[in-house]
Amino acid sequence: MLRLGVNIDHVATIRNARGGEHPDPVRAAQMAAAAGADGITAHLREDRRHITDDDIARLIDATGLPLNLEMAATPEMLGIALTHRPPAVCIVPERREERTTEGGLDAAGQHNSLAPFVARLRDAGIRVSLFIAPDIRQLEAAARLGAPVVELHTGPYAHGGDGELERLQAAAAHALGLGLEVHAGHGLTTANVGPVAAIPGLAELNIGHFIVGEAVFIGLDAAVRAMRAAMDEGS
Ligand code: PXP
Repeated sequence: MLRLGVNIDHVATIRNARGGEHPDPVRAAQMAAAAGADGITAHLREDRRHITDDDIARLIDATGLPLNLEMAATPEMLGIALTHRPPAVCIVPERREERTTEGGLDAAGQHNSLAPFVARLRDAGIRVSLFIAPDIRQLEAAARLGAPVVELHTGPYAHGGDGELERLQAAAAHALGLGLEVHAGHGLTTANVGPVAAIPGLAELNIGHFIVGEAVFIGLDAAVRAMRAAMDEGS
């Protein structure tokens, strides 16, 4: 069954708006687990604008679910990943001035800098995924890098781009042919997740902003369940 990874970054965004401890993203992760999430995802950014180092330390054992740590390929983040050893790491590109992750990782152009990074994480027993555009060149680069998983960037699809669903479908099929496990995420909502969930062979979706936003209106438990239902309806 297609797994749902719930990204709890934006619970931390709300907390950080006042600088205190409430709302606690760890409590959100526990509620997401109780509501049927299959994993928890959190992005430790260089500027710590939402999730903090302390959150990562607390999230590791908080839910009984695997933590998927999203991070940039920097020496600092590698050290943090090797200290905490989450079950999974997703390598994302990061620019300080962006509001959210804007593009996919250039796995093809950055082979030489990414290769030792992927190797160190793999050697530590961490499942490595690369967040990339649904692009054949990037998929083949990910396979050459020895990453067992790719996460396809669904942002352009979510923004209604022409032909983007077909790009995701073709990329997923190609990735499966290369022996890669295929995940997807970014910008997914209960309204647009169905066709993505229906892509054959997809293993996991990582979804955050919509679920946390919707939780304001219907509660986090109901928001996670609604996303699960929309995925199940689509697939
Ligand atoms: N996957 C990756 C790699 C991401 O960087 C993000 C955003 O942090 C997501 C999934 C989740 O995107 P959204 O918050 O739009 O659901």
